Amino acid sequence: MYIGVDYYPEYWPKEMIEEDIQGIKELGANIVRIGEFSWHLMERTEGNIDFSFFDEVVKKLKENGLSIMFGTPTATFPAWLAKKHPDILSKDEFGRIRVFGGRRQYCFNSTTYRLYAANITKQLVTHYKDEEAIIAWQIDNEFGHEGSDMCYCEQCHREFQQFLKEKYKQIDVLNEAYGTIFWGQTYNDFSEIPMPTKTITTHNPSLQLDWARFRSFSVNRFAHEMTNIVRKHKGSHQQVTTNVSGGFFNKWFDHEENVRLMDFVSYDNYPVWGGLDEPISPTAIAMSHDFNRGLLGRNYWIVEELMGAQGHEMIGYLPRPNQAKMWSYQAFAHGCTNMLYFSWRGMDRGAEQFCYGIVDHSNMRGRKYKEVQSVFSHVPTFEHVLQSPIQADIAVLYDYDNIWSWRFQPQSKAFDFTKELLRLYEPFYRLNANIDVIPVSRDFSTYKVLLVPVLQIIDETLAEKLKTFARCGGTVIFSFRTGLKNKQNNIHFKHILPAYVSDLVGAHIHEVESLAYRRVPIVGEGRWKDRKAMCSVWRDLLEPTTATVLYRYDDPFYPLAAITENEYGDGNVYYIGGGIDDDVLNDLAKEIVQKHHIWHVESDEGVEVYRRVCDDGEYMFILNHTDQEKRFHHLTLKPYDSQIVKI
Ligand code: GAL
Repeated sequence: MYIGVDYYPEYWPKEMIEEDIQGIKELGANIVRIGEFSWHLMERTEGNIDFSFFDEVVKKLKENGLSIMFGTPTATFPAWLAKKHPDILSKDEFGRIRVFGGRRQYCFNSTTYRLYAANITKQLVTHYKDEEAIIAWQIDNEFGHEGSDMCYCEQCHREFQQFLKEKYKQIDVLNEAYGTIFWGQTYNDFSEIPMPTKTITTHNPSLQLDWARFRSFSVNRFAHEMTNIVRKHKGSHQQVTTNVSGGFFNKWFDHEENVRLMDFVSYDNYPVWGGLDEPISPTAIAMSHDFNRGLLGRNYWIVEELMGAQGHEMIGYLPRPNQAKMWSYQAFAHGCTNMLYFSWRGMDRGAEQFCYGIVDHSNMRGRKYKEVQSVFSHVPTFEHVLQSPIQADIAVLYDYDNIWSWRFQPQSKAFDFTKELLRLYEPFYRLNANIDVIPVSRDFSTYKVLLVPVLQIIDETLAEKLKTFARCGGTVIFSFRTGLKNKQNNIHFKHILPAYVSDLVGAHIHEVESLAYRRVPIVGEGRWKDRKAMCSVWRDLLEPTTATVLYRYDDPFYPLAAITENEYGDGNVYYIGGGIDDDVLNDLAKEIVQKHHIWHVESDEGVEVYRRVCDDGEYMFILNHTDQEKRFHHLTLKPYDSQIVKI
């Protein structure tokens, strides 16, 4: 198993490398990741390729028995390139150039940039293809992060028009599909079509969704070009990956497609970043791991695991003693097999002065060093557990078209896609069941339960897949706005909502209300009689046809159903009509896991238990996310404790 650190030897005086390597080895590490921001060091002036600095570094690391992950350096290009070819720079939605100075300011559609990036990537990989110590290549760094997946330059505009031309062939086909008759926006030619930059009120929804798809195409075309170059020139012992950043549902590219050519997925796990007062919730961290495991449908690496506080201009919460260590154990529980920490030492100069590493600017080994050391000495003894595949019975489905559609038209001031996904995920997470987070295009027939949050874009094929699933005994949970739109991002015409699945849901929706932050009461019926809860964000007013009402809006004007359950074939289907409070969903989740005999265990609030099954038995990762002492069965858990127990 690989355990290590991200190391930037080029940032430090040359004579420090021996001492650093010593320190890294004494941590218990066996791998370092290097190189991903060093294009200029490899090509100081155009065409003068020189890898001598890294030759020396690789030699020293190798002499010390350390393996290497090498990053291709295309996330930060040299200043001379921007000066010579300013057209490589991307533009924001106001048409302003993102000047040289930060990072990732290149345009994914710049043919010039693609050529230069291809060249340095090819030269680098060819140079080190026979280097045994280099066991993996990381492509670029965090594709699309920090807003870099969006660009409104002239090249993007031209390519967008071409993209549409290839898709629709005839301009009138596009006009019809978009409904450009509305507001007299009919185009005579593809060359008239704008990019959806800021204008008065809003752009056409179909145009917006196609723009998002075009952004995704642009990022992924570049990613695949670079990946193919690495694949072509690398040594057969070298694997290929790219590091996925956090905030993946807020990106303009399809992540599954992005990593399709990779040998494994790598994730950068930062439970707290920038000026956050506190970490994101344990549920959100867990879901991020499940999302990354779901990208290729197997276990993954973490190549940047947080140890110190992080931020560029703003820094916030400092992880409490053992808290960052516990996040590492949580990652291992959810399928991480190899882990590298960011970073060996925080830099004293440059934009990341406040991104604290394992070692701080004093260069002394302190608390964080000891925490990493203890992870590295303990976790590898469980390597076989980490390698074991995770078989979940529950899957959350997502679809980037649907996410982008929501992003353009949130419909409610309180709408947030990730929150709505977590609303369905959390009740099952609380029961400590294993959950996969997968794209809707995946084969989901082997699961027992599907959680389908806010899937407003649906077509007949997908509806059929879901019906087959329920018919064969599965449970489906939909939440509000299901089946509203078609793939063109237009509302289904002459359909009763939820379109294509109204028989599956067993209810019709004629009227809806955006609640934003307003909270309205709901009240239980039947087995939930007189139970009360609240609903916010949104409400679909459900009129059951075959479904049973579980909760109803406690409203003299609209006393319609808020939550329904419908028998369908051998399975059943729930519809959660709005942003319903978690108590209600927690109770439903309990019923569902019991019905399907899904492994779960109750634990105190803030105590996460993750079960792994492998050849020699069952293990539990037990994590205390709180600052209080907790108990789980006979175990006492100190604040932020993490344990691996064989059962
Ligand atoms: C990551 C990035 C690293 C570094 C780190 C700081 O998103 O990949 O290069 O910037 O954040 O926390």
